[in-house]
Order: sequence, then C-alpha cells, then structure tokens
Amino acid sequence: MREKQGKIDFAILCMPCAGDPTLRTLPETVQSIASLLSATFLTFAPALSKNDFPMPYSKIVALGHHVPETVITNQYLSTLMDTSDEWIIERTGIRERRWMDPAKDTVANMAAKATRMALKRANLTEKDIEFIVFATITPDYFFPGSGVLLQRELGLEGIGALDIRNACSGFIYALSTADQFIKSGMYKTILVVGAEIQSTALDITDRGRNTAVIFGDGAGVAILQASDKPGVMSTHLHSDGRFAEELYVKDPGSSRPHNERQADQILDTTGYKVHMNGNMVFKHAVVRFMEVINEALTANHLKKEDINLLVPHQANLRISQYIQEKLALREDQVFNNIMRYGNTTAASIPIAMSEAWAEGRVKENDVICLAAFGSGFTWASAIIRW
Ligand code: ACO
Repeated sequence: MREKQGKIDFAILCMPCAGDPTLRTLPETVQSIASLLSATFLTFAPALSKNDFPMPYSKIVALGHHVPETVITNQYLSTLMDTSDEWIIERTGIRERRWMDPAKDTVANMAAKATRMALKRANLTEKDIEFIVFATITPDYFFPGSGVLLQRELGLEGIGALDIRNACSGFIYALSTADQFIKSGMYKTILVVGAEIQSTALDITDRGRNTAVIFGDGAGVAILQASDKPGVMSTHLHSDGRFAEELYVKDPGSSRPHNERQADQILDTTGYKVHMNGNMVFKHAVVRFMEVINEALTANHLKKEDINLLVPHQANLRISQYIQEKLALREDQVFNNIMRYGNTTAASIPIAMSEAWAEGRVKENDVICLAAFGSGFTWASAIIRW
C-alpha cells in the first residue's frame, strides 16, 4: 500500500461524538471512515485493486455441523448409574445425546465433516480457507491442538491454525478472534470451529452422575468472510478466574510435581474427570448470560425485542428458559436443541446455528444474538446482522 499510494492529497476530519447516544459508536465511525477512505482511494487510484483494502465487516457465509451416530438415551444412562429419565428431563431438558464411536469419530474428523457441509452449502472449496480458529477443550491430543489436525485432514498445506480453550464460551471467543483478523485485513476467509468429545472422560458411575448426564459430543463450524455489508456487529468477552476450580478437569495439567504427573505414578485418578459445582455454576450462569446479552444490545443500540433469534449455549434448558422469560422473548425467538444433543460445550452454538439456518429460522437482515457461559468462568456474546 505505502509504495503505491504516494503523497496524501486530502484529509478527512473526524469529530468525536462521545456523549450523544443517537450518534454511531466509535467502532462504527472508524469502520465508516475506513470504507470511505478505501472507496475514495479506489476512485482516484485505479491502479489499486479492491483486494488492497480491508473490508469493514466479517460475515458468516455458511454453517455446518456433524454429530456421532450413536444415540445415548436417558433410559440407557439409568442402567449405568443412579439416575432417571424424569430427573434428567426435569433438571436439564435433555432427552438424548450423541457419544463418539472410537472406530469413526475424533474431534478433528467431526470438524472436517462439519466443514465439508458448510463448504458445500456456500459453494466454496477447502482451498478458499485461509486460516483456522478451533475452539475445543477436548483436543485429540494434549498437544498439538486440534486445529493443525483439521488443517491436515482438509489438506490445507501451510495455513495457520489457532486453538482456543474457553470451554462453553469457546466458539464466541473463536468468532471474535476470526472477526478481528478479517477486519484488520489479514485474512478474507476463516474457518471457525467448535468441536468436542466429552463422553470418553465422563465418570459414568453414581459418583459422576451430575456431569455424565449433561455432556455430549459433536462439531459445528462457521465460515467467516470479509464483506462490505454488516455481519458480526460486535463481540463481548469476559472471564473471572476466581472460579476456575468450580468447573474444571485438573489433569494432565502441569500444576502437579514430576512424581504426580507421570501416568504410572498417578494416585488421584479423579483429576481426569470433570469436576463441576453444578449449583454454583447455574447461579452464576443465569446472571452472566443476562449481563452479557444486555451489553451486546446496548453496544449496538438495540432493544431486546429487536432480537430475531437468540442462540444461547446449550448448557441447561432451564437456563435458556430463564433468559427467554427475562427478555420476554417468544418461543420462536430462542433456538434450543439441548433435548437432542445435551451440552456439547464449544460445539453447542455452531451446531444450533447450523440447525437453525437449515430450518429456515435465520433470514437475511435478521439480528442474531449468541451468548455463552462456562468453565473459567468465562462468558461472552455476539450480535450478528445476517
Ligand atoms: N440423577 C439423579 N439425581 C441427581 C443427578 C442425576 N443425574 N445428579 C445430581 N443428582 C442429585 C444430587 O445428588 C442432589 O441430591 P441431594 O439433594 O440428595 O444431595 C440433587 O440431585 C440435586 O442436585 P443439584 O446439583 O442441586 O441439582 P441441580 O438442580 O442444580 O441440577 C445440574 C444439576 C443439572 C448440573 C445443574 O446444576 C446445572 O445445569 N448446572 C449448570 C451447568 C452449566 O451451565 N455448565 C456450564 C457449561 S459446561 C462447561 O463449561 C464445560
């Protein structure tokens, strides 16, 4: 750019608009000026191509998902542990979930199947993907991350792959990261992934029943592209590490000394299981979900009735119903599929979005709100203009 531009022939002055809520937000103003500058340069400098300028927005152009074939019902779980279909439905809304088949499913290959669905829906090919942002807390290996395994599986030689470990908020963190890469002009097409295999780490005895009945496996993806039309309007990310141990898997963390971390010397095998203080997580979740949704609405000068579809992380149907009631949203304004898949952690939002899109619940120009809360604690939201 710098070599091509030569001298500056004009300047556009920007007056600060702080304090006037009717005026546009600062990011919107900066984006408008960037578009204006880029349009003006293109008019006066025909030698420059449109590709030399970052586009002001990122937009989801396709969604896809994949879940394992094996359906695990509540009745089946009640043969393994002291629980019942009634308890699980009443406390969580879950009726069944999918668990991986070791002969078929890995986090990376479920993500690859979801990606191929999205590429087909958008009439794109693997070669269009320039970068991968992969949200998972259950990577195929402790290291490297699943992003590189997906890069290998899709045959995308040499492109960058980044793993995000923010549990249930992971997909929104990944979307936010991809959005910044696109708005900065670094990439034009990014694959954003949420994929998990929780089932193989669950304690399927009475001791683990408060988590074993909740989690499921699956993968969902969104393909994000640079656009001159609004798409991802804003993302809002938060964390509070004071509660890290209220929902965590300790091992194989590096916090243990040598004699405890080596597999053949491990005495405390519970460190590999999900530990969750469910009641406490629930109480924080309902507060943070509301906060972060309101933050997103305020940032975009929207009212709750402007939401066409809320896609909350599928943690517990009671949490979704609480948010729906607080925001006074109709049933058709909130998308839930926890009944069929349980809590698939980082995969839950992209799976839900992919299904919502396939059912025709997402239409052009709609305002879509995403929100999540989970381990960390972390919580996040996004407003998308479809
Ligand atoms: N079947 C039957 N009884 C059970 C089961 C079960 N599967 N699990 C727990 N119980 C019992 C408990 O032992 C307890 O019995 P007691 O009263 O005799 O002690 C009773 O049910 C009530 O237990 P609670 O834990 O208080 O039940 P609660 O209504 O809170 O539901 C649940 C538990 C479903 C886990 C809920 O707390 C929850 O959904 N929490 C939030 C989960 C969440 O949002 N996680 C964040 C995302 S996950 C991530 O980030 C990785």
